[in-house]
Amino acid sequence: MNSSPDVTNAGARARELVDAYPNWYHRIEVVPGLVTPGINDSSRSLEALNLPGDLRGATVLDIGTRDGFFAFESERRGADVLAVDYLPAAATGFSIAAGLLGSQVRYLQENIYNLRPEAIGTFDVVLMLGLLYHLPDSIRAFSTIRKLCRSELYLETHVADDDYPELASLPVALFCPGMALNADPTNYWAPTTPCVEAMLVECGFAVESVARLGNRSIVKARIASDEHRYYRTIAHGEQLPLR
Ligand SMILES: C[S@@+](CC[C@H](N)C(=O)[O-])C[C@H]1O[C@@H](n2cnc3c(N)ncnc32)[C@H](O)[C@@H]1O
Repeated sequence: MNSSPDVTNAGARARELVDAYPNWYHRIEVVPGLVTPGINDSSRSLEALNLPGDLRGATVLDIGTRDGFFAFESERRGADVLAVDYLPAAATGFSIAAGLLGSQVRYLQENIYNLRPEAIGTFDVVLMLGLLYHLPDSIRAFSTIRKLCRSELYLETHVADDDYPELASLPVALFCPGMALNADPTNYWAPTTPCVEAMLVECGFAVESVARLGNRSIVKARIASDEHRYYRTIAHGEQLPLR
């Protein structure tokens, strides 16, 4: 059966929009049969993440959303989603993908370090995917997320385990100055998996599962009692010691 001219034109227009953006990171099926040419195998990570299939009634915060693959997937599973990135939505594929998908995902251009529950609320599920190594202060980031998360955190990150097997059982993070990690000057740290786990526990999370995918680790954590919070607020200058 031939497509109507309207459908053909819409398909051609979608193709034009996708082709007009040269730096796709995610592979998103924006209209049936048209997948954005991302450099990242987003579906592989999605499978390894094992997110709940049904997110109806849940709120999801996707920090470092980039083109929005995981935000749109969470929306497709029923969640109310806030996508955050320090880049403007039009600087990535997010605006194009959201428009073509007819997505209702809200977008906030902000740095993770400036996110506050008073401004954006709290979320049942927080996604921190492909973000940790970009952050100069990991503990500050986890402290920020701990205040925003009502229940579960899904984290995906590059880890140093395979590059430095002699360190792989220790809670250490390698500093990657300049272009040292993937020739990307926005990368700062390569932690081992035990380091990621220890930082999460330090910041009031309980680790529920850990999986490896190549040189990446995928961690599911849940909020737990935040025993060391006082010391972190002192360390980060949120208050002075009481004595
Ligand atoms: C490697 S991409 C990961 C995209 C997606 N989360 C994924 O896992 O496929 C990292 C994203 O985090 C964003 N980002 C980096 N540092 C950030 C920060 N301090 N605050 C907010 N977003 C940040 C970048 O702009 C980029 O879009």
